[in-house]
Amino acid sequence: MKKTVIGPFSQLLTMANIPVKGALKDEQLEVIENAGIVIVEGKIEAVGKFTDLKSDDIGIELVQGKTVCLPGWIDAHTHICFAGSRAKDYALRNSGKSYLEIAKAGGGIWDTVTKTREATKEELVAGIIKRANHHLKSGITTIEVKSGYGLTVDEELKMLTAIKEANTKIQTDLIPTCLAAHMKPKDWEGSALAYLEEISSKLFPVLKSENLSNRIDAFIEESAFSPLEIAPYFKKARAMGFSITVHADQFSTGGSETAVHHNAVSADHLEASTQKEIQLLAKSNTISVALPGASLGLGCDFTPARKILDAGGALAIASDHNPGSAPMGSLLTQASVLGTFEKLSNAEVLAGITYRAAAALELDDRGTLEKGKVADFISFPTDNYQEITYHQGQLRPNGVWKNGIKST
Ligand code: NIG
Ligand code: FE
Repeated sequence: MKKTVIGPFSQLLTMANIPVKGALKDEQLEVIENAGIVIVEGKIEAVGKFTDLKSDDIGIELVQGKTVCLPGWIDAHTHICFAGSRAKDYALRNSGKSYLEIAKAGGGIWDTVTKTREATKEELVAGIIKRANHHLKSGITTIEVKSGYGLTVDEELKMLTAIKEANTKIQTDLIPTCLAAHMKPKDWEGSALAYLEEISSKLFPVLKSENLSNRIDAFIEESAFSPLEIAPYFKKARAMGFSITVHADQFSTGGSETAVHHNAVSADHLEASTQKEIQLLAKSNTISVALPGASLGLGCDFTPARKILDAGGALAIASDHNPGSAPMGSLLTQASVLGTFEKLSNAEVLAGITYRAAAALELDDRGTLEKGKVADFISFPTDNYQEITYHQGQLRPNGVWKNGIKST
């Protein structure tokens, strides 16, 4: 078996041995100076001082200059499978119309549904590949991707099949999530309950048999589904062995309570969460996922990340990259900016896009650099990890390794 030691890195942050929940101080970060990583068959065999790891029977991949090495970023919430653009919505919002007003007037999610239905599966695959490859260059080695712009059994299947196919053609790992409960489709003539029943009875079994997704998401909001409507849908999903995740408390509350009630792995958005929801989440096993890209895209409040962490909650940070509310898609910029507004330590920001993001996706094989984990890691051209958030996304990685293989 071929063994290779990669290094030396000026600093290596393992992101290991930190809790999933609660506030973090930078002193809790495990930082190894002049470090190396030993790779065997795409997995990490050892992490330590580069000079200690070198030996005669091991290959060496030398890294030049100053470098800080971290686990590859994990973007735990995106909608990068879509067609079309919503630049018009963006301009309308900036002229004073609200997200919900635009949605009611025919823009919003439904506009992307129309464009995505018109696209072929191949066009969707090409779009995912283009976006995922762009994100890989910025250090993102795992991306969660939602459906939710199909909103019929067949169109949701087209999206999830496109995500599965794209996954086989790129280095990045894509984690698919079924978001057929994104909104009640405008062309569905029955009730919301009947739509959800159609999806759960006809789509859920195919997701299992075709191995298309293990995760079920729903948008709980006045413009989408109520906690009451979603209850039988989530119950059925849980009974079939799916994990639950929720678009919660984006504009109004109710979603995070539903998430905790159904033992969801994550509640995402939370811009409207109050002290009551923050306490509820903190006491639960549900991970809070902040989506600063949606706050920046919509021009609204950030998720109360500081309060969530101080209450003892678990906080991941994701881009929500989508054509409507979060068109930027730059995870590191968004996480860094969230840090400045919410007063987060480097440890909290970096954990939010590595270890804690892995927890939000129930992936225990990544997010830290330690023996046995997938060899997904990135390097930045600096000798001080504090420079990474300081440059708010403008300091770009000079190395990205996926399964131990350097792609950039
Ligand atoms: O996470 N909130 C609902 N869903 C997406 C928006 C999708 C869209 O606007 O197309 C979100 O922000
Ligand atoms: Fe979203």
